[in-house]
Amino acid sequence: QKGEPLRVMISGAPASGKGTQCELITKKCVLLSCFVTLQYNLVHIAAGDLLRAEVAAGTENGKRAKEFMEMGKLVPNEIVVMMVKERLSQQDSQENGWLLDGYPRSESQATALKKFGFVPDIFILLEVPEEILVERVVGRRLDPVTGKIYHLTYSPPETEEIAARLTQRFDDTEEKVKLRLLTHNSNVESVLSLYEDQIVKVDGTLPKEEVFSQIDSVLTELLAKKGAAFGSL
Ligand code: AP5
Repeated sequence: QKGEPLRVMISGAPASGKGTQCELITKKCVLLSCFVTLQYNLVHIAAGDLLRAEVAAGTENGKRAKEFMEMGKLVPNEIVVMMVKERLSQQDSQENGWLLDGYPRSESQATALKKFGFVPDIFILLEVPEEILVERVVGRRLDPVTGKIYHLTYSPPETEEIAARLTQRFDDTEEKVKLRLLTHNSNVESVLSLYEDQIVKVDGTLPKEEVFSQIDSVLTELLAKKGAAFGSL
């Protein structure tokens, strides 16, 4: 019997490693036997990815959102709040649990979520000092085929073929990440104060596998407490 699903928020400054850790959490697979595989099965919902999908689709919301993203500012609530609420309300998120990445980023977004009844079991905060973040952003590359996140130095592509197709995000410049950091710094405390009881701080400067191992232990412990079982394939 499957227990109550996990509800996880992951937060941190731009390039602190949120997307990288979400990829590891959602891909986690433990082979128990030839027939049974265990995994968290959480639905990864990244506010930035939802917005970039709107931008790519050329919708009115996407066009408007891009103006704010270019400036490193928060996209207005009238675009983002319902977009995230709708994704959280879908059946897969409700049944499997969710992993909310980069949301909420302001007190008003957190308050709206609470009003809609979305409360996390845990709020993971990745801590990385600012001097490391700029280097991470400038070296970040994305694989448009698999969606995997790379870094030219810390997580280079595995083959020449992948290297040749990597792309860069339009807001991944030193100038723009500094603007994103300013926005982050002016909002972070008010968001953290609303999740005081659920916060778990993780040192995000460690290699990504070590960061994941800390998150993995916390999530496994939490699942055990909730009496939930891993999803099995
Ligand atoms: P968003 O897409 O969420 O960007 P962000 O918060 O700036 O975070 P990033 O995606 O840049 O970084 P990340 O923490 O996921 O790091 P990653 O794992 O890729 O938001 C973009 C914009 O959308 C915002 O500016 C805003 O305009 C808008 N927006 C988003 N959410 C919104 C909201 N709630 N409300 C309103 N507007 C919103 O890692 C970065 C690099 O470092 C990679 O190259 C990776 O390989 C490397 N790396 C990762 N971990 C490690 C490690 N442990 N060691 C070494 N390198 C590592």
